[in-house]
Amino acid sequence: MLKVSDIHQSFGARKVLDGVSFELGEASLVGLIGPSGGGKSTLLKIMAEVLKADSGAVSLGLASSEGLSLMFQEGALFDSLSVFDNVAFPLVGGRVPTYTLDKDTQESVRSKVSEILSRVGLSKAAEKVPAQLSGGMRRRVALARALVPRPKLLLLDDPTAGLDPVASSVIMNLIVELYQEYRPTTVIVSHDLRRLIPIVDRILALFDGRILFDGPVSELESFRHSLLHKFVASRYDFV
Ligand SMILES: Nc1ncnc2c1ncn2[C@@H]1O[C@H](COP(=O)(O)OP(=O)(O)OP(=O)(O)O)[C@@H](O)[C@H]1O
Ligand SMILES: [Mg+2]
Repeated sequence: MLKVSDIHQSFGARKVLDGVSFELGEASLVGLIGPSGGGKSTLLKIMAEVLKADSGAVSLGLASSEGLSLMFQEGALFDSLSVFDNVAFPLVGGRVPTYTLDKDTQESVRSKVSEILSRVGLSKAAEKVPAQLSGGMRRRVALARALVPRPKLLLLDDPTAGLDPVASSVIMNLIVELYQEYRPTTVIVSHDLRRLIPIVDRILALFDGRILFDGPVSELESFRHSLLHKFVASRYDFV
């Protein structure tokens, strides 16, 4: 469904991606790991076509980029919009606030937004603004907004960054539940390998601008590349 071929990307003199290639199939849950500053967010932005790579190709087996959602590392909510309007945003092409829409459109938007808000446990927070929410709740709003168009491909950039352990577990569990329910091919970037590794089917490890490892979690432990092994072993206990 998505093919990434030989992506190169530099910022000034710094080479960030140096020939990245891989493919994603239907309905898989994939973890993208690697050191900080290693280019994971850059790669997601290139996959989502928010950023155009210096060279290489991304081919989406989708009718248009509408089948894809990217949840940015910072969550990127609109501070002045209600939770409801934040989530409705992708459905209405940014024509917010939604009370300005005609009645029929309002109705259809309302049912979709209400459904997803209830799925992420935020029905009661619909009329609040992001500043009134905890970090974990804001992350759930961002997840709801990414999911509301029912994407075929969901890219989640560090969805638990900055959250406490309990809120992190809530978000990771929710991602698994939503994946099982809606089945979007999902790529999760995370440094939280203790929570990431047990839930994903496959790991992509980005080191030195390249995919150093691409395979099932079961092969990660026996993959004896010293850099990757150190990186993983310091963050995850194989059992
Ligand atoms: N728009 C930009 N302009 C200049 N440099 C950039 C830009 N975006 C990213 N970089 C640089 O590219 C490198 C990779 O950044 P990126 O954010 O992709 O890393 P990352 O793997 O997501 O890191 P982290 O795990 O900390 O989120 C960094 O050195 C960063 O400073
Ligand atoms: Mg990043």
